Amino acid sequence: MPRLVSTLDQRAFGGLELDVDRVRAALAATGHVYLRRVPDGFDHVAQLTRLGPAVPQFDGVVVRDVRPDPAVDNSVYLPSNTRELRAHTEWFEFPGPPPRYQALWCVTQAEGPGGETTLADSYDFVAGLPPEQLARLRARSYTWTPTAALARSGVSYRCRHPLVEDRHGALVVRFPCDDRCRDYDALMAGYLAAGRRYFAEHRLAVRIEESGVLVWDNWRMMHARNAFTDRRRHLRRLLMADRR
Ligand SMILES: [Fe+2]
Repeated sequence: MPRLVSTLDQRAFGGLELDVDRVRAALAATGHVYLRRVPDGFDHVAQLTRLGPAVPQFDGVVVRDVRPDPAVDNSVYLPSNTRELRAHTEWFEFPGPPPRYQALWCVTQAEGPGGETTLADSYDFVAGLPPEQLARLRARSYTWTPTAALARSGVSYRCRHPLVEDRHGALVVRFPCDDRCRDYDALMAGYLAAGRRYFAEHRLAVRIEESGVLVWDNWRMMHARNAFTDRRRHLRRLLMADRR
């Protein structure tokens, strides 16, 4: 059975105003919503931050451009080239709670195959884990430090957090895209392997159009990207904190 993307027609529901109640209802039901037919003049930052305050990057940037960097070839694993990205949740390795919501919209759509954003429900994934494994994941905290690139730019931290935790009555699932955790162990290896299998089986794919905005609950959804070839592909990203 094809997996259906939860969509809202922005022209029909809100126009230049985000229908926050309707968007929240969609996010609560499926963990994501794709706004289609978003009119010209829609103020992405002003409207989307009605879901929660913007979370700036370490360099203070609020809206991040996601597009291939001419200086970055595909020999490295980075968002700034055209390779497939592995399933992950955003900011799994940073101090504090991860951003609650993530939004992507499109400046220039890629032509040709690939470039879809893919999503799968990590709440459903962890609910299917053996109870003993889930209990160990809740009890175990892992240590994270900045990547070498971030450290070179002056960012310094050391944080510890579990991969699955309850926060103000909501479940927070962190899903790393690599094994750079300081305490990487067999428990995490098993979790990543099972999560990647789940993602491959259950992901849905969204090709974000130039009039579209994809929003998801980053505490609940893993996301990734299919490889693409058109280097003009240009998206913009905004992260929003939980309101509580
Ligand atoms: Fe990401």
